[in-house]
Amino acid sequence: MTIALFDSGVGGLSVLTHIRAQLPGENLLYLADQAHVPYGPRSHAEIIQFCEGITRFFLAQQAKAVVIACNRASAAALTLLRERFPDVPFVGMEPAVKPAAQQTKTGKVGVLATVGTLESERYASLMARFAGDVTVWEDPCVGLVELIEAGQTDTPEMEQFLRRTLAPMLSNGVDTLVLGCTHYPFIRPSLTRIAPHLTIIDPAPAVAQQTHRVLQQANLLSPSTNGGQITLLTTGPATPFAQLARQLIGYEGEVGTAVWQGSILR
Ligand code: DGL
Repeated sequence: MTIALFDSGVGGLSVLTHIRAQLPGENLLYLADQAHVPYGPRSHAEIIQFCEGITRFFLAQQAKAVVIACNRASAAALTLLRERFPDVPFVGMEPAVKPAAQQTKTGKVGVLATVGTLESERYASLMARFAGDVTVWEDPCVGLVELIEAGQTDTPEMEQFLRRTLAPMLSNGVDTLVLGCTHYPFIRPSLTRIAPHLTIIDPAPAVAQQTHRVLQQANLLSPSTNGGQITLLTTGPATPFAQLARQLIGYEGEVGTAVWQGSILR
């Protein structure tokens, strides 16, 4: 049995590392849907179709829980997946607006997320519930996921991109920044270099804790405390993904592929 995670690309690997650290005895199966990256600008309907196909694929691989290691996919599909697969424990994620609103001292919070996440009902509901007392600056970071997928986490292009994106936030007194896309923790060093005083909030540790809780409640935790296997798959080309996984999380193993046949993933 395995915990299965997915994202549009390499982003969810930032979640995988936290789950690995908290649950080292669990087998982890990660799928990067790079055939469809980026998810950000795609419609809800399209993303729901991908998420359903991926969930069915995971169930055929003996998944005991599914972690949607993607804010965009969670915003589009989490509620529906829970309805359609009532026996599957799902863990989703959303931009960490609540902790940011609690931690900011200036009352000004920045949110970096993809356009689909920022325009989702789920995000609107988060804002309505938790951001009443703070001012929020959002940026859809158009092109940022693509730069990270190209391995450009620490290049002059990335630095320029981030300086441009952060400028309005910083000049308006934002002191707390929410990483609302799982790709963005990989540019944390660049963000910190540009704005060392920012408090940066990555929800991945909380997602790992939630995964632990969900498995515990369902009595599905592995009895092993170490030695879990990690399997990485992509729906895109394996070699560049393997190189990127090495660069980003030091993964040295093989990468397999899964192939979309219409809406079915095999
Ligand atoms: N990593 C995904 C997220 O957390 C989105 C990346 C994409 O747009 O494909 O939202």
